[in-house]
Amino acid sequence: WWGSVEPAAKDPILGVTEAFLADPSPDKVNVGVGAYRDDNGKPVVLECVREAERRIAGKLNMEYLPMGGSVNMVEETLKLAYGENSEFIKDKRIAAVQALSGTGACRLFADFQKRFRPDSQIYIPVPTWANHHNIWRDAQVPQRTFHYYHPETKGLDFASLMDDVKNAPNGSFFLLHACAHNPTGVDPSEEQWKEISYQFKVKGHFAFFDMAYQGFASGDPERDAKSIKIFLEDGHLIGIAQSYAKNMGLYGQRVGCLSLLCEDEKQAVAVKSQLQQIARPMYSNPPVQGALIVSTILGDPELKKLWLKEVKVMADRIIGMRTALRENLEKLGSPLSWEHITNQIGMFCYSGLTPEQVDRMTNEFHIYMTRNGRISMAGITTGNVSYLANAIHEVSKS
Ligand code: LMR
Repeated sequence: WWGSVEPAAKDPILGVTEAFLADPSPDKVNVGVGAYRDDNGKPVVLECVREAERRIAGKLNMEYLPMGGSVNMVEETLKLAYGENSEFIKDKRIAAVQALSGTGACRLFADFQKRFRPDSQIYIPVPTWANHHNIWRDAQVPQRTFHYYHPETKGLDFASLMDDVKNAPNGSFFLLHACAHNPTGVDPSEEQWKEISYQFKVKGHFAFFDMAYQGFASGDPERDAKSIKIFLEDGHLIGIAQSYAKNMGLYGQRVGCLSLLCEDEKQAVAVKSQLQQIARPMYSNPPVQGALIVSTILGDPELKKLWLKEVKVMADRIIGMRTALRENLEKLGSPLSWEHITNQIGMFCYSGLTPEQVDRMTNEFHIYMTRNGRISMAGITTGNVSYLANAIHEVSKS
């Protein structure tokens, strides 16, 4: 039956974790996958999550959630993106369903796009999270790209981005990272977001925001939703993929949300029913535990306060590691500029290392990172930062 099946290519991100786990070296360092670690390099379960687990334990049954998932979780999640007192929430204009984290939310949207706008394409930034390409490919939505990152300045290529927005056919679909762009750590400024939003309005484009890192850009989830706020104020009907993998550390719980802002309540009801119909043959209904953890935390003012504090602790530790990595490189006398390490934001540093240099990092120093030169800052600790800096210096100096 399966004789013609060739092994699949390794995933460019999760394949790095596999290689890391298989390496017996005691020196090995994993700065591949975007998963938060504490300063001892250990995975973290937030205290607010532990407390929510304690409150939930033994109290609830294990019945199916509705196809659209937990109503409470979705409601709290919308407040984080659209604002606590959003008129769109009050007016029931948002079609929203629980999704299997950010990936699931993007995939549901991509399938929905294909079903109801079968001739449309999706414009994706260069570069982007590798899985975005897989998601829209499998949903059979043709992909186009738009300029985003400037390799020389290691910042945003705003002029080319705006040209691409202007040159795309009217009414195109664009994938935007709401904050803490993955993999580059480069976000548009507030002024630039305003210009992008304005141009989207002129062209009648549709903005689909992937917001996988809300809280990791500034340490404050509300501030990190700025791009969305700007688009909403300008009257766009947008879509958003939200995830609690990173900002609540609920990676394996697969809890997130897909929402689409509609013209009115009637349209939102119709859209939601169609999203549920896409979910039904794929996974029927989403898992319950992660959604309960989220709604328990966000539904309790004290726990929510604790969560916000803990998000900030994570974001601040990463900022501290940016400074430490840059200082270590400068101390080693690297002639290159490492300013971008502290200029970039969120969980990642787009180091500028070439694929060949990355291979040397792995083969000679047992440091595991993606071949595009992305370093997960969350994997850096006070214990490994000088080792990492030394390796970067060695592979980049000649
Ligand atoms: C990453 O970019 O490392 C994360 O989003 C994890 C993943 O699934 O790729």
